[in-house]
Parts: sequence; structure tokens; C-alpha cells
Amino acid sequence: MNQRTFFVKTFGCQMNERDSEIMSQTLSMHGYVEGMVMEQADLVILNTCSIRAKAEQKVMSLLGMLRKAKASNKGMQICVAGCVAQQEGEKLLERMPHVDLIIGTQNIYRIGECLEYARKNPGFIAIDLQDNYDIPRFMPDSDLSANKPAEFRKFVTIMQGCNNYCSYCVVPYTRGREVSRKVSDIIDEIKVLIEGGIKEITLLGQNVNSYGKTNIVTDNGLPCSFADLLHLVAEIPGLSRLRFTTSNPKDLSDQLMRCFRDIPILCPQFHLPVQAGSDAVLKRMNRKYSVQQYLELVDTLRSYRPEIALSTDIIVGFPGETEEDFQGTMDLLEQVRYHGSFSFKYSDRPGTRSADFDDKVPEDVKTRRLIEFQARQDEISLERNREYLGSTKEIMVESINSDSIKGRTTTNHIVHVDSSGLGDNIRPGDLLMTEIYHAGQHSLKGKINS
Ligand code: 5AD
Ligand code: SF4
Repeated sequence: MNQRTFFVKTFGCQMNERDSEIMSQTLSMHGYVEGMVMEQADLVILNTCSIRAKAEQKVMSLLGMLRKAKASNKGMQICVAGCVAQQEGEKLLERMPHVDLIIGTQNIYRIGECLEYARKNPGFIAIDLQDNYDIPRFMPDSDLSANKPAEFRKFVTIMQGCNNYCSYCVVPYTRGREVSRKVSDIIDEIKVLIEGGIKEITLLGQNVNSYGKTNIVTDNGLPCSFADLLHLVAEIPGLSRLRFTTSNPKDLSDQLMRCFRDIPILCPQFHLPVQAGSDAVLKRMNRKYSVQQYLELVDTLRSYRPEIALSTDIIVGFPGETEEDFQGTMDLLEQVRYHGSFSFKYSDRPGTRSADFDDKVPEDVKTRRLIEFQARQDEISLERNREYLGSTKEIMVESINSDSIKGRTTTNHIVHVDSSGLGDNIRPGDLLMTEIYHAGQHSLKGKINS
């Protein structure tokens, strides 16, 4: 019998990317093989995101398209996983009755059994969400090169869920209460990855600052903070670079900030979402810090690691945001001068508190504010990039083609390097020193001095 093929399409954040890898590996263990063309696969998994209405619309239109693909490929099974699955459940099935399985964020480890059940019972919904969830011990395939050659960096999920309830955010509803993985599971996973040739690890969680605070993570029951975990990971031999994401500024500890000073392989790059530059808006967002407190964190981080490159997330047009509030966000941008940022128009999400707030900002005002913010950020990013001109930076090689090499600095800047004369022995994951001679808005150019 031919093996069933699967195709996974991932939307959203790195957490979803890691979850897709876990599902893919689980399916391989159940005898499936990865296919190259979505419409021809026996099983299509959409791992979905519901952070903004637009993300959800993308999923819906792809599901509409798959209805036709399934009509001409009768054996096809369609599975919706991730945040839309978790949040919409039954409602999704009503709109999209051709879906065979809806699997929630805590059930991905059981995807093999759930699919088998759904083959006899199409329209199966597995979205239970437990408060005292134990993230199963799951080790990556030790032969990383088995399906994807030249992998050199990986995400490692260290916790799931969120307890913060920012008023605009679906995550607490789609990913449940915060739970941390056991230290030993995380360390064992990273050791397997390093043995498989991985050089860079990014630790993932919705709010890594609160790692180890909601459940016991050590065998002896002693506490282990996120900063402690970073030190433990950094001590594992063989890793060149360590990163993490994401942090809520409200509980960013001095102990964690000191890691940027004390751990050499911790990259000088920090994504610290501020969301808005007005105290009134931050309060309604339930962020629990003030602009002043945020700026103090930025100063402290820069005192510990002067070259640290900061990035952020911004929401414009949160309900009730006045021109003056928005000006506060623009002022904050001038003060921090982020190396880069992700900025979004506020989007109402079902079940969140802000969906019920009055004073919604009109769409055209949101658009104008977003354009203004992004235009200024682009200028600042270019100015920031120009600060690197003439300096020599270490890059980790990501890809190589006939005439150029693409790599990334520790500060997370992409650098293109002319590869002529470098020979054939350069591999993804290698470290090279490059002299930066050109700065664009989104990337740098460097040359190798031989
Ligand atoms: N509307 C717009 N942006 C949002 N984000 C989260 N929820 C919403 C929403 N309802 C943004 C935040 C967050 C990033 C991942 O997405 O900036 O940090
Ligand atoms: Fe999207 Fe948030 Fe879910 Fe990630 S956790 S997939 S960003 S809704």
C-alpha cells in the first residue's frame, strides 16, 4: 500500500512553526510521508493563527479553496490546527463542513490517533483545553538531516499559554493557562539538536519572563527562573548563538537583563513589545507598565549590553486612542530608536475585553497612523543600519548561492556577502567575519577580508 502523504501550511508565530514540526514528526512516526503539493496530499493540515482578523481570513479563504481540491481528490483529509481551531471549534465546522479534524493547541501530540478516529468519524473536534496541562516530553528526530538538509537553527518551546490577559489579545483563550516545560526536557531536547548539527537556538514562549513561575519545572522541586534556564542552556557545549522571544516588559527582571551582560552566546538582540506610547492606552490594554518604566528598562538593557538591538510591536488605533496618545507612540519611537518594529492596526477579536470597548477608532484613522509610524520607523531603521558601516561583524551563514552568501549578525541583521573566491566549503551555520560596506533599509552588505 502507498504511504499517505501530508502537507502542513503554517500561519502565525514561531510557536506555531514549532508545533507544525511536532505534528510533522508525529505523522512520520505514524507512517506518513511529506508531500510537495498541497492539492495532491492525502492529508492537509492548516496550522492557524487568529491574532488579527486578517490572519483568520487567510485561513478561511484557503479552506474555501481546499473544498474544491477535496472534490477532485476524494481521499483527502483536511485538518485545522492551531489558534483558529481552538477558538472557533464547532463554529468552524459549521462554516467549513468539509473539514475532517479540528485539533486544538494542547492536542497536537495526539494528532496521529485523532486523525485515525476522524477517518471513520469525519468532522471530529478535539479542542479541550486543560488548566493543569503537562506539556508531554517530546524529543526531536535525532537524524535532523533525514528530511531537511542543512538545518542549523531551531526553535525550542519552553512554555505554552499566557496568564496576562492584555485586553486586545486572544492568546489566553487559544493557548490556555501558562505552563512551563521541565528543565530536563528542554536541556535534553537542545542536546539532541546540537548533536544533529544545530548551532543556534531560540527559546520560545508567550512570556518567557514568567518561565517556571506557574508550575514545578525541576526534579528536586527547587525554583528555576528564565534567567537560570538561560545560564543552563548556555553551558551546554556546542552552541554558537542563543536567542529568546517574547517578553512582556511588566515583569522583565534585572536578573534576566543581566544575562545580556553575563552570557556571551546570548545574542545582543531583544524583542520587547511596548504596544503603545501613552499611559492611558497602556492602562486600557492592561499592560501594567508605564512609558517611563519601559524607558528605564531600555536604559538598563543598554547599560548591560551597549550594542543591543531592540525591536518592538506596536498597535495603532486601539479603542479610545487620541491623536495625542498616538503622538506618544511616535515620541517613544524617537526616544528608543528601535532597530525594527512590527506595527499593526488594532483588530477586534472575539472574546477579548477590548472588543466591547467604546470609542473604536475609524479605519481610515488607523491606516493613517500606521503609515506615519511605519514611514518613520523605516527612516530610523536605515539610520540604525548605517551605524554599522565600516565595522566588522560576525555573521552566521544562512544560505549560499552562486554569487552571494546570506548571513545574519548577532543583532539579527541580514548581511549579503559576495561569495566569489570563498570556495565551496562554506555551509549554513558557519560563522564568518565580514566588513560592512553598504547599509540598506532591510539589510546590509559585507565583504570578507582575506
Ligand atoms: N489587534 C492588533 N494587533 C494585535 N496584536 C495582538 N493582538 C492584536 C489585536 N487584537 C499584536 C501585538 C502583539 C503581536 C504579536 O500582535 O502587537 O505583540
Ligand atoms: Fe497567532 Fe498568537 Fe496563536 Fe501565535 S499564539 S498562532 S500569534 S494567535
